[in-house]
Amino acid sequence: MCGIVGYVGEREALPILMDGLARLEYRGYDSAGVALLGSDGRLRVAKQEGKLARLRAQLDARAEPPSGPTGLGHTRWATHGPPTTINAHPHHDEDGRLVLVHNGIIENYAPLREALRARGHRFDTETDTEVLVHLIEEAWYGRVATTAGADGTTDRTTDGDATSVTADRGLRGPAGSPIGADGPSRFAAAVRAALRQVEGAYALVVMSEDLPGTLVAARHFSPLVLGLGEGEQLVASDIPALLSHTRRVLLLEDGDVALVERAGVTVTDLAGQPQAREALTVTWDAAAAEKGGYAHFVRKEIDEQPGALADTLRGRLDGDRIHLPELAALDLDAIRRICVVACGTSLYAGMLARLMLERWARLPVEVAIASELRYGDPVLGPESLVILVSQSGETADTLAAQRLARAKGAPTLAVTNSVGSSITRAADATLYLQVGPEIGVVATKTFTGQLAVLTLLAAELGRRRGHFDAARVADLARDLRALPEAMTLAIAGEPAIRAAAEALADRRSMFFIGRGFNHPVALEAALKLKEISYIHAEGYPAGELKHGPIAMLDPSIPVFAFATPAPTYDKLVSNLEEVRARGAELVVVAGAGDTDIARLAERVLYVPVLREELEPFVNATVAQLFAYHAAVALGRDVDQPRNLAKSVTVE
Ligand code: M6R
Repeated sequence: MCGIVGYVGEREALPILMDGLARLEYRGYDSAGVALLGSDGRLRVAKQEGKLARLRAQLDARAEPPSGPTGLGHTRWATHGPPTTINAHPHHDEDGRLVLVHNGIIENYAPLREALRARGHRFDTETDTEVLVHLIEEAWYGRVATTAGADGTTDRTTDGDATSVTADRGLRGPAGSPIGADGPSRFAAAVRAALRQVEGAYALVVMSEDLPGTLVAARHFSPLVLGLGEGEQLVASDIPALLSHTRRVLLLEDGDVALVERAGVTVTDLAGQPQAREALTVTWDAAAAEKGGYAHFVRKEIDEQPGALADTLRGRLDGDRIHLPELAALDLDAIRRICVVACGTSLYAGMLARLMLERWARLPVEVAIASELRYGDPVLGPESLVILVSQSGETADTLAAQRLARAKGAPTLAVTNSVGSSITRAADATLYLQVGPEIGVVATKTFTGQLAVLTLLAAELGRRRGHFDAARVADLARDLRALPEAMTLAIAGEPAIRAAAEALADRRSMFFIGRGFNHPVALEAALKLKEISYIHAEGYPAGELKHGPIAMLDPSIPVFAFATPAPTYDKLVSNLEEVRARGAELVVVAGAGDTDIARLAERVLYVPVLREELEPFVNATVAQLFAYHAAVALGRDVDQPRNLAKSVTVE
């Protein structure tokens, strides 16, 4: 994870960098930092543990904050080394003449660091990243740096827990030679030479005090986008950080190294061979990523679901036909089995996809946790369609599973919200969610967007395989068109959901149970509560409780049950009786009109009655609101929960 930004141009870079970091803070918020190269030729760094607001306060308190028209910045999600100021990015070389920000993990950092130490380098941090700046230093200067160069002084000061590093030097190039017109391309070559020694994942931006108006950016397995302007260029981990300045973007590919100068960008591979990359124009609006009067992005995004669902379905329900032209890139007749691969909330969407694919398309379906599959030896081949579900399209484990599937000859289909994300570039076909940007770290509208796309996919595969006839497609199309209204009704039940959440927010643990389609919903409900309220929760298939977890139940542990109409409804009611007999408090989500269930439950939260396959849309919405209000009642950081990040780009 981590968010990185860079700017070269004529304008003052600091506000541009800070604005970009604010839009990327969902990627990590353990610490933040910026480095700017002033028009006086001086490089200045400011970094601070904690959220971006603390860095902003530090900068505001400075008489002379860093300034200049070239700069880079970083917001961190810690992997190697605790989230302290010293471990915050940017990292610098011994002389403070090179600075670098990085997202990813350098897997061979330990042997590299030992070798660099043996050659005289000094390390200040516990990060894997710091080896990068020393490798580039060697490649650029052609020597091992000393702590103070012959032609200047290095000044490091510590201000409370904030660190500043400044270096004051004249312009000098590699091995003390003057910088020539080819300085920027030689610098890019030095970065490439350093990166050829590295194993692992990176998106990085580096700048040298010797080269005003120049950045070098590189990508391998972590996302990085260039924003193309007139006389100015930007770099960022994600498109929303660029949209205030430009809509023309260039998506870097794995192995790309970009020389970014005011006048334009040049992309090569690691060997220095030029790479042609097409610029895209982004059509969605930056305003879609604003809070719009809501207290939290999460709450706004829950409310957006009915509209987002309509957007997902738009153009895909063509009369009574399902229209997914993207599938033309796949040889679906050759498919004999399906493997759905994902993590977290996307995995639960995948579990629901399995139920629909088996029911409607009559294909055997396996659902695999990406972080497990990637190190397993799965039986995959050209007859196995691998469906990768990932809202971000950048989840490292899912991308690795995709590489494994491709290596085994399996066709891959990406289901994602992120246009141009890594997963789409390696996939044979992509189905986009079309739900707009999701800024809250926890998934809400992307989950229901995934369900909508996977529902269409299952029905379309069923139709093609002759198991889901035209009348059934027409019924489903009618029910899907009515779904946004049903979700609006579910959201309208918020007062009762909120009352339940506020009443139970002081409990230390909760169970969420359901059967059939409500089993993955129970898992998602438990994950949502854990993520944003930090209340311990377990999701269980209701029939499994008696095989162990029922021992946990007592009056202090509430049980939240999804009891909407289903073939297993009566079985579920028996499970609720068992729970009741142990004195546990019951909150039940039930179909409108089910008044009988009230005899078992302390609280009943009613939702519109839907066909079983579509119940997860409304039931998950109730679970989202429940988790949201529990978290607000506890004063949690709902949009940026501790220890989480929106895109998990490390394994
Ligand atoms: O971007 P992805 O869908 O691949 O992300 C997968 C998980 O990291 C994600 O769903 C995570 O569980 C979220 N925090 C859920 O709210």
